[in-house]
Amino acid sequence: MQTSKEIEVQKQYIEKVKDINKGKKLKYFILTMGCQLNENDSEKLCGLVEQMGYEKTKQYEDADLVLFNTCCVRENAEDKLFGKLGELKRVKETRGTIIAIGGCMMQEKHITDKIKESYSYTDIIFGTHTLHKFPEDLYKTLRDKNKLQDVIDIDGEVYEGLPIKRTSSIKASVTIMYGCNNFCSYCIVPYVRGRERSRHPKDILNEVEQLAKEGYKEITLLGQNVNSYLKSEQWQDKKIDYKGINSFATLLRAINEIDGIERIRFVSPHPKDFTDDVIDAIADCKKVCKLIHLPLQSGSTKTLNTMNRKYTKEQYLNLVDKMKKRINNLTLTTDIIVGFAGETEEDFMDTLDVVRKVGYEQVYMFIYSKRVGTPGEKMENQVPDEVKHERFNRLKELVEKSIAENNKKYIGTTQKVLVEGPSKNSPDLLTGRTESNKVVIFKGDLSSLKGKLIDLKIVSEHMWYLKGDIMKVY
Ligand code: SAH
Ligand code: SF4
Ligand code: F3S
Repeated sequence: MQTSKEIEVQKQYIEKVKDINKGKKLKYFILTMGCQLNENDSEKLCGLVEQMGYEKTKQYEDADLVLFNTCCVRENAEDKLFGKLGELKRVKETRGTIIAIGGCMMQEKHITDKIKESYSYTDIIFGTHTLHKFPEDLYKTLRDKNKLQDVIDIDGEVYEGLPIKRTSSIKASVTIMYGCNNFCSYCIVPYVRGRERSRHPKDILNEVEQLAKEGYKEITLLGQNVNSYLKSEQWQDKKIDYKGINSFATLLRAINEIDGIERIRFVSPHPKDFTDDVIDAIADCKKVCKLIHLPLQSGSTKTLNTMNRKYTKEQYLNLVDKMKKRINNLTLTTDIIVGFAGETEEDFMDTLDVVRKVGYEQVYMFIYSKRVGTPGEKMENQVPDEVKHERFNRLKELVEKSIAENNKKYIGTTQKVLVEGPSKNSPDLLTGRTESNKVVIFKGDLSSLKGKLIDLKIVSEHMWYLKGDIMKVY
C-alpha cells in the first residue's frame, strides 16, 4: 500500500478509537527510554494518542493507557523495562489499563518472548517499523480484547503526515533519516532500526517551515548518521535534487534560509563521512550552531578497527584540526565507549590522549555492554568488568577536570542564549542554552523573554551550568 494511503487508513482508525472513547475522559502515560530519535517517535505517539481522545498524565497509576517507548542500546535498559512492567501489574489488575510497549527493544525476539512469557498482561507489542499503525493496533485491542504483537523485520517505509505533539514550543527535533548502514560491531541499532532511509527534502522543508510559523526557534536534525542523508539506496536511481538540496550540506544551507528559525543543530554525524562541504556549510551558515557532536568511541586505531568504525586515531584528529581551522569558536562533544572487546591499557591510553588533545565541551561516556546478535558479542577477548569500571572512572576524572577547566573560559564572556523557561532547580530564575549547548541560569521576566535570543554576560561557572546577567534582548 502507498504510504499516503496507509496514513489515511490510520486516520480512519483514529476516528474509530475516538468514537469508542467518547465522553470517557481517558488518560495516558508515556515513558521514553531512548535517544532523541526515540523521543521524536514518542512525540508522534503522543500526537496519535491525543487525537484518539486520551489526555496526558504524569502518574501511571491514573492512566487508562500506558506506553513505553524502549531502547536497547545498552543492557541496563532491559532491567529498567522489566522493573517498570512489574510495577504495572497491580495497575493492570485494578484499573484494566492497556499496556503498550514499542520501540527498539521490541525488535529483539528474545525480549518479546520474555514479555509474552513473564509479563503476559502486556496488551500491545509494536516495533520501530510499525509505529504509524498504532491507531489500528489500539482499535483492534479495544475491540477484540486480545493481546496483539505488531512487529516486522523488513525495513519500514518513510511515513509522512502523522500528527505530532511536541514537548517544547521553542525547540523541535526533526528526523531527517531512519536506520543505519554502518554496523559498528558493538551496536544493535542497525538490527532494530533497519537500513538507512532518508526523508524527501520537500517533506523536511515543509515541516521546518511549519515549525517556524508556529514560533519554533531551534531545530535539531536527527539521524544515526546525518552526513549520509540522501545517500541511502532508496534514492540511488532517482538522483534527488529538490530546490538545490541533494546532500546534508545543502539541506543545512536550505534550512538556514528559513525565516523565524534562529538555531540549527544536528546529531549524529559519523567521522568517516564528514565531508568538507558539510564543514563549509557549518562555517558559512549563521544559524548553524558552531558545535559538532563527533562520536569518537575509541582513540585507539586498533580498537576502532575492531569496532568497524572505518577511521584511525590520526584521521579523527586531522578532521578535528580541519574543523577547528575552518570554523571560528568551534566546540566539540563526543561519545566514548570504554572496555570494548580486546581493549588493552595501551588502547585506553590512546582514548585519554585524544580527549586531552581535542578539549571536548562534553563527553558522553559508556561502559561497553554486549548486545545479542552483534559481532562484539562473539568476540573472545572481553574486558573484565572491574577493568571496565576502573577505566571508566579514570576517563570520568579526566573529563570532569577538563570540563571544569573549560568552564572557566566562559567567565566574563558574552554568550548568545535562547531563553527556554523557568529553571527546574531554582524556579525564580530562568534557563536557556548557549550556542555550545551549555545550560545558563539568570534573572529575568519569563513572559517577555521566553523563546527570545538574548546576550548574557557570564558571571560564574559550576560543573554543569553557568550563571549570567542579561546584557541585550534581540
Ligand atoms: N549513531 C550514533 C550513536 C547511536 S547510539 C553514532 O554513531 O554516533 C549512542 C551511543 O551509544 C554511541 O555513540 C555509543 O557511544 C553508545 N553505544 C552504542 N552501543 C553501545 C554498547 N553496546 N555499549 C555501550 N555503549 C554503546
Ligand atoms: Fe550504531 Fe555505528 Fe550506526 Fe551509530 S553509526 S547507530 S554507533 S552502528
Ligand atoms: Fe535510539 Fe536506543 Fe533505539 S539509542 S535508536 S532508542 S536502541
